[in-house]
Amino acid sequence: MAKVIEIESSSSPEAEILRQAEAAGVDLHRLPRHVAIIMDGNGRWARAMKRPRIEGHRAGIKSVREIVRICRQLEIRYLTLYAFSAENWKRPSSEINALMILLCNFLKRELREMKENGIRLEAIGRLFELPDPVQRALDHARRETAAGGQMQLTLALSYGGRLEITDAVRKIATEIQAGRLLPAAIDPDLFAAYLHTAGTPDPDLLIRTSGEMRVSNFLLWQIAYSEIWVTPILWPDFRRENFFAALRDFQGRQRRFGGVDIDGAI
Ligand code: FPP
Repeated sequence: MAKVIEIESSSSPEAEILRQAEAAGVDLHRLPRHVAIIMDGNGRWARAMKRPRIEGHRAGIKSVREIVRICRQLEIRYLTLYAFSAENWKRPSSEINALMILLCNFLKRELREMKENGIRLEAIGRLFELPDPVQRALDHARRETAAGGQMQLTLALSYGGRLEITDAVRKIATEIQAGRLLPAAIDPDLFAAYLHTAGTPDPDLLIRTSGEMRVSNFLLWQIAYSEIWVTPILWPDFRRENFFAALRDFQGRQRRFGGVDIDGAI
């Protein structure tokens, strides 16, 4: 209800985003709590523009900025972005270095806006594998934004779902070996507490840009019941109207989590 009052009474840019979302058919009262995005297509975007691949990543940051702002305004509490996969280390070192520099710059430039807007930065993945300057920039941004209570922005970096799961199994095995955990105590909730995402609800909506119909080792455990929405739009072209389309589609889905909907119950 607070959101509706705000739309009717304000001409601020924030209220304008809410108005645009409503005009696009988004129900502001039925938004996902957690959206996760596989940001794909930066390289293809650059190729289409006859520019180096890194220009695609650079352009992709504009989309990141836009979607973070929209989520904050819509009060979507969790946004998780697949920014660098464990498999991305196979790319040429020039591209990896350029991506790491972009990431550091992003963390430094966006810090003030994140703090002002109550956005807490988090990161998941094998963060110890990242270059030292990136680790330092991440630590700094996480510390500085720790009090942000409006939204959590999680960057998946050097992240792989299978690695996350096997890391969790190793930690659990260590606990059992040390006599601190009984095998009988292992259930899905306990297991989830050993994942990098412990404490974060599972994504309600998974978006993938650039048209590929696969999950690419992203949040394998956590997306068990996520609604998946794939668009052919390349990530650097992904803007609010595309995000609104994803939300609209999500709101049209029936989520039964393996059960039956009330009307269909016998
Ligand atoms: C996939 O496109 C994208 C990536 C591997 C990196 C995503 C990074 C950014 C959007 C910029 C930095 C992010 C943050 C959060 C600051 P691709 O290169 O695989 O594209 P292609 O499949 O068309 O080659």
